[in-house]
This record gives sequence, structure tokens and C-alpha cells, in this order.
Amino acid sequence: MSQKYTHFKGNHLSRSELVQRMVVEAILQSPVPDEKRDWSKVFELKHSSSVVQTACMLAQKRGLNQEMAVLGAVLHDIAVFKTGSATNHAINGANIVTPILQRMGVFSDEEIGHIALLVREHSNKHLISADSLVELVKDADVFDCSLLEGAYDAYREQKSSEIVAHYFARIQKVRAELGLPHDKQWDL
Ligand SMILES: [Fe+2]
Repeated sequence: MSQKYTHFKGNHLSRSELVQRMVVEAILQSPVPDEKRDWSKVFELKHSSSVVQTACMLAQKRGLNQEMAVLGAVLHDIAVFKTGSATNHAINGANIVTPILQRMGVFSDEEIGHIALLVREHSNKHLISADSLVELVKDADVFDCSLLEGAYDAYREQKSSEIVAHYFARIQKVRAELGLPHDKQWDL
């Protein structure tokens, strides 16, 4: 069935569009000001949107469910968007998304459990999951950050060399997958 493009307006949004609009509204409406947020609202809007686009591309490349990839991508940092705090945000986010998605009434329990798993696992970049969508969300997240100015230095400063190696390996893998040139910056 063809779907009319909505520009995210009106009452006929797809499930994925409804969630994406809800995430943007959650960021804009969060009462926590930038000064008290770990990240800025501008970053949160940009990052959540661009991880979704990368997730779409990776889902198509990998032959995975694009809707689930988008949902995991747009929700993976929901705890930061809601609270302004990045501390334990993967686990907190998994707890936040479950009642939100249940209230929407358009997702099955199995789908909600899977989306919560994508959110909960996304910070474990050093682990390889047997779940292809978990891996996709991690890859989309770290690749998106790799395109930001200063990302290399931030990774080297904030993470151990062992953990950084996993991040950089994911970045190189996605770059190759998307046909981007090898970038020595991400070699350890
Ligand atoms: Fe993220």
C-alpha cells in the first residue's frame, strides 16, 4: 500500500513517524535548560535525526527491518532527551520507552520488548550482539558521532584504549559499508 508523504503533519502518520514526532517534541518540551543538560537540545535534535537516517541506510544495506531500525535509532537516547542526564541512559531509556510505547497502543508486546532491547544495549559498543538490529543501532550511533568535529579527540579522552578500539572498528566497518574511503584517523 502506498503511503502519502506527511511532512510529519496531521493525523495519518505511520507508527514510526508518530514516534519520531514524539521524540522531537520531547526534546523541545523538556523543561531542563541547556545549562543543566549533559548535551544541548540542538545536539539532541540533530543526533536523533541523523542516527535515524544512517539506520535507514544500514537497514537497507543489511536487509533488516527498517521500521524497527528507525525506532531503535530515534529512541536510543530518549533518557537523555527526557531528563538531560546521560548517566546510565541506555538502561534508563529502556525503562522509559516501554510505557511510552504501550500507551501508544500500536505496538505488540514483542515489538516493545525488542525496541527496549535496542535502547538498553546501545551503549555496549564493546560487545557484539547476536541481534542484528542491536548491532545496527550501535553502529549507526557511533558512526553518526564520528562525523562530528572533535569526535576523535573526545573518544580518545573519554574512553579506555580497549573500548575505543571497538568504537573505531565499528566506524571503519560502517564507512566501508557505505562506500566511504578508509580514514586512517580511525585506525588504532
Ligand atoms: Fe546516541
